[in-house]
Amino acid sequence: MSLIALGVTGGIGAYKSVEVCRGLQRHGHEVVAVMTRSAARFVGPVTFEAITRRPVITSQWKPGMNARLRAERFGEASPEPERRRADIEHIAIADQIALLLVAPCTANVIGKFAAGIADDFLSSLYLAARAPVLLAPAMNSNMLAHDAVQQNLRTLAARGVRFVEPGEGYLACGWIGKGRLAEPADIVAAALAILSPVDSILRGRHVVVTAGPTCEDIDAVRYVGNRSSGRMGFALAAEARRRGARVTLVAGPTGLEPPAADDLVRVRSAAEMHAAVTRAASRADVVIMAAAVADYTPSSPATHKVPKTDAPLTLTLARTRDILADLGRMPSRAASGMPILVGFAAETGNAAAKAREKRARKGVDLMVANDVARPDAGFEVQTNAVTIIGADGEQELPVQAKDRVAAAILDRVEQLLRARAASPVRA
Ligand code: CTP
Repeated sequence: MSLIALGVTGGIGAYKSVEVCRGLQRHGHEVVAVMTRSAARFVGPVTFEAITRRPVITSQWKPGMNARLRAERFGEASPEPERRRADIEHIAIADQIALLLVAPCTANVIGKFAAGIADDFLSSLYLAARAPVLLAPAMNSNMLAHDAVQQNLRTLAARGVRFVEPGEGYLACGWIGKGRLAEPADIVAAALAILSPVDSILRGRHVVVTAGPTCEDIDAVRYVGNRSSGRMGFALAAEARRRGARVTLVAGPTGLEPPAADDLVRVRSAAEMHAAVTRAASRADVVIMAAAVADYTPSSPATHKVPKTDAPLTLTLARTRDILADLGRMPSRAASGMPILVGFAAETGNAAAKAREKRARKGVDLMVANDVARPDAGFEVQTNAVTIIGADGEQELPVQAKDRVAAAILDRVEQLLRARAASPVRA
């Protein structure tokens, strides 16, 4: 467990830092919130006080954290008058934190950090802290693109400050992007990666993850789809990346923002997903098919919008190709056992038995069975309850957050990778 200073500055994304705070706590870390004056106009300090169960630092001139820590650790009475020892408070916190995370981080604060201006608690803390610094910039895209901001970002990067990309397209080489604050889950993952760099056999390996539904077009505006949100696949991609893997994420159409990936391939239909996955799989160590791929597609989709009539409509659907089964038959796998294949079996009852049969039929290494009839598992919810089925046994996991389920699945993948490395011929 570490103490993390969560700096919140005055950006429209400030509300998202409440979720960042929760995510850090869920991973066992303690958080002290440090808010700038303008941040307090977007979110009330009381919100952070309630969830961190600590005083929130909103000013350089009020006793807060330092007094409380001393009282807790050394039994000192809390210093009564305002301002007492407040001037050295940032030094005390600076010594205790394992990470200074600022999310959202405005152009103004980036500028102050780069220039070494210390005119409030957060900017003083930045100068006093020796802990790693992680910033999640958020601002208007023109501001982000401005030379002044770019220069400041480069200055900070050269000092070892790390960043969580805002939105998509924020490139290390060019620093360009939309400027929207990254998703809380990505910010938490980046913080965790700094706090506990994992020593995983996945480091440097290529992992392909599919996520979300596929949409099979009936005509120019209508389609056949399913309820997959992409959350489980996104959690797997984020966790694989946290373990150091190079991740190709093949995502069907979903409303959720995908996590950062080395290669994000957007697809729409089962056929497009088949092509994208097949392409990536030839260079992959692991392929995880978390997507809910359509089993059927309209046989003759219209390119225009089909007008309705009073007569009933019969839609003829043709089978799609089974991506997982095709990968299971890859000739190279017979010799090397690679890539490791993971499939999902979404069932409404008797999930484990059906998944066992699918695992054998599709020739995959691990089948993850989930009962989507449960209200707390499967589609459109944050949690999942799965059984992981492999040649070496079955592991039934209790209902838990999808990022925890992702970690458990990747633990099993790591076991298989270690076994393959020890004996390259397929078990
Ligand atoms: N899958 C695939 N290609 C398809 C369909 C499914 O790769 N065209 C993958 C899914 O990503 C998932 C697994 O296969 O990993 C699901 O297996 P499947 O037999 O398709 O199960 P369901 O469609 O959920 O169930 P059922 O066969 O009972 O319809």
